[in-house]
Amino acid sequence: MASKQLLAILATSLGPAQAALEFKWIQQHAANPSQLNQMVTRRSRGSQPFGPLNLLTRPPVLIPRPETEDWVIRLADHLKSSANHRPTMSLLDLGTGTGCIPLLLCHLLPQGSLNAQGVDISTHALQLATDNALLCGIPPSSPHRNTPQNTFTATLGSFLSPSFPDGAKITPPYDIITSNPPYIPWDEYLQLPRSVTAYEDPKALFGGPSGLDFYHAIARLIRRRDFLNPGAIVALEVGRGQAPAVERIMRVDAHMRDTEIWSDPWGIQRTVLAHL
Ligand SMILES: C[S@@+](CC[C@H](N)C(=O)[O-])C[C@H]1O[C@@H](n2cnc3c(N)ncnc32)[C@H](O)[C@@H]1O
Repeated sequence: MASKQLLAILATSLGPAQAALEFKWIQQHAANPSQLNQMVTRRSRGSQPFGPLNLLTRPPVLIPRPETEDWVIRLADHLKSSANHRPTMSLLDLGTGTGCIPLLLCHLLPQGSLNAQGVDISTHALQLATDNALLCGIPPSSPHRNTPQNTFTATLGSFLSPSFPDGAKITPPYDIITSNPPYIPWDEYLQLPRSVTAYEDPKALFGGPSGLDFYHAIARLIRRRDFLNPGAIVALEVGRGQAPAVERIMRVDAHMRDTEIWSDPWGIQRTVLAHL
């Protein structure tokens, strides 16, 4: 389809100004014309497939990316073997956005095997993650209800704050920590086109001067031994070229072991895994 047509499709659901803005962003992120068509069609419906789920998206919350979908499906397979042998696992997703990571894991893992919590600093993200859980039929956990289903609850909090998790409604210790934190370094962030920075919240993208601030914060958290259960697993998405540095942060600062780096389908080192 020609660009003009695609723009017109977007404009019917978003209005001309927002459509023009988002179309530029989509053009920059699509790998080829067929992906461009797909992304426009999905966006015009206000949703984004993520594995078998179809998640709602709303600006300024980050639209889930295919590279994230890839490692989450892989993580689900990795966890499935332990899900059969353990009682219900507890998971914390740091910077949950649409809730895509915990919701897909809740969907893919055996029912009753996962209680997931998601933390985000953005109230827009919390509302969207809660709406997505409802849409996917994943109930919140409740102390009064022993549900045989997997559960997901989204909570407000800043894991960058030295006082986190004080005051946040989360319940460590956890068996699994997942995160796709903001990881774009300052110099790259300044070069992002205005069409990206205008659509997506800078808080969802900017990872501090080196891009590694959030990984250091995660290491500080998990170094507190009351935060993780024995045998816990940590899975962190990283930006291009950051995997060795994040692996080192996990080993040296967080005292984790058995680290692994997973590449995405495009050959980029994308996920650092670490075990306690
Ligand atoms: C790169 S986005 C990832 C969103 C989602 N997990 C995904 O994979 O699509 C990072 C998320 O972290 C959130 N965030 C940024 N700073 C935060 C903080 N200090 N504490 C909690 N969440 C934060 C943003 O609001 C955003 O939703």
